[in-house]
Amino acid sequence: MISIISSTNRPGSNTFKVAKYYQQILLQKGQEANILSLTELPDTFIATDLYGKRSEAFKRILDAAINPSDKFLFIIPEYNGSYPGVLKVFVDACDFPESFYEKKAALVGISSGKYGNIRGVDHFTGVCHYFNLHVLPLKLHIANIKTEFDENDNLFKEDTVKFVNEQTDKFIAF
Ligand SMILES: Cc1cc2nc3c(=O)[nH]c(=O)nc-3n(C[C@H](O)[C@H](O)[C@H](O)COP(=O)(O)O)c2cc1C
Repeated sequence: MISIISSTNRPGSNTFKVAKYYQQILLQKGQEANILSLTELPDTFIATDLYGKRSEAFKRILDAAINPSDKFLFIIPEYNGSYPGVLKVFVDACDFPESFYEKKAALVGISSGKYGNIRGVDHFTGVCHYFNLHVLPLKLHIANIKTEFDENDNLFKEDTVKFVNEQTDKFIAF
């Protein structure tokens, strides 16, 4: 099972649009994937789901999406030169080892600026390796994200589409 993690809780995020696009591409390649947007985390998350505590709402997310998944695709926006804090809170709150240990992941960085979250994706790669989540070497960095969507919120630029295809093929074979 594949889960796509839309790695911000910002409403109306471009990250979520990219997550939806990847979901369509994976489906075209015969792979169903569900999306977990971090907007779905309970409002009480910090109080109810860290350091041994567990809310019913987050338990449902873990049981339905995270723990049964063997592959993850993280779409990661650049916030202050790195990945969003809510993504770190999310992985800190997940179950060890059931959530990520010895599983596989692909990473995609996006930004409104010109670096496509190279540094944030590198930072998150280190975190993934710490808990033995194996990262696909081909990572995508989509800069100037606001110029990348067509009127249906699909990615349309030839280079971007080509690299998404290459990355998803490798992810499926990973
Ligand atoms: C808190 C915050 C910090 C941000 N920091 C950066 C940054 O360091 N570099 C950058 O290129 N864009 C930055 N952005 C812009 C995001 O990259 C941009 O909003 C993009 O659309 C991806 O984020 P989104 O999924 O929330 O839309 C920041 C946005 C937010 C909300």
